[in-house]
Amino acid sequence: MIWLDRVSKSFGGHPVLTDVTFHVERGLTTVVMGPSGAGKSVLARLVVGLHRPDSGRVLIDGTDIGLLPDADLRAVRRRIGMCFQDGALFNSMSVGENVAFPLRRHTRLSEKQIWTAVAAKLEQVGLPGTENRLPEELSGGMRKRVGIARAIALDPDILILDEPTSGLDPLMADAIDELIFAMKPHRTLLIISHDVTNVLAVADRLGVLSGHEMVAFGPAAEVIRSPIQIVRRFFERATRTAALGTLGS
Ligand SMILES: Nc1ncnc2c1ncn2[C@@H]1O[C@H](COP(=O)(O)OP(=O)(O)OP(=O)(O)O)[C@@H](O)[C@H]1O
Ligand SMILES: [Mg+2]
Repeated sequence: MIWLDRVSKSFGGHPVLTDVTFHVERGLTTVVMGPSGAGKSVLARLVVGLHRPDSGRVLIDGTDIGLLPDADLRAVRRRIGMCFQDGALFNSMSVGENVAFPLRRHTRLSEKQIWTAVAAKLEQVGLPGTENRLPEELSGGMRKRVGIARAIALDPDILILDEPTSGLDPLMADAIDELIFAMKPHRTLLIISHDVTNVLAVADRLGVLSGHEMVAFGPAAEVIRSPIQIVRRFFERATRTAALGTLGS
């Protein structure tokens, strides 16, 4: 469904991604992990066309999005929901208007239909009735969930979540994990995370980015056993957790 074909990207002469090849299969949950600064968020932004690769191709359902005129790129983007690492909510807009934003932009729904859809999405992320709150009045975990509600507003085929649980307390992280679990059977998910335990619970496919490269990629149960040092170091802590025992059994 998503295919990165030998993608390289640098900023100001500093390479961030070099020759990265990886794919996301329809209906599966693919997780990308890696140290801070490895280029995970850049990779997510490449997939939605917010960055263009210096070389290589980003294909969505076989179409090279680099070759698309803006109008067609917009149509592709409409099919992909993205929840940014920092939430990227509009602080001056209410929670409801934040979630309504993609609906106003991409659909011709009536006001009534928009607010019905907004209420349904907020309900889905466990925040019913919060339409009139402002983002600054919410906790970090609630803001993340509003970001997810906005990302699923258009019922996208593909949902990208950049660090959905980072910076949250374990209870809130669990609540977000449950939400991801509930969405998993119905969507193609690309999750960026360095939360090892969460990753192990949801990943079908796992990619590890390190030193500008995708150093490991494949079925999650195989990748976590990879002898590559950076992968081993990432999972050493996790080998002591029950989550790994469950996945490995
Ligand atoms: N728009 C940009 N302009 C210049 N440099 C950028 C830009 N976006 C990202 N970078 C650089 O690219 C590198 C990778 O950034 P990225 O945000 O993808 O890391 P990350 O793997 O998501 O890290 P984290 O786990 O901390 O979120 C960093 O060195 C960052 O400074
Ligand atoms: Mg990031």
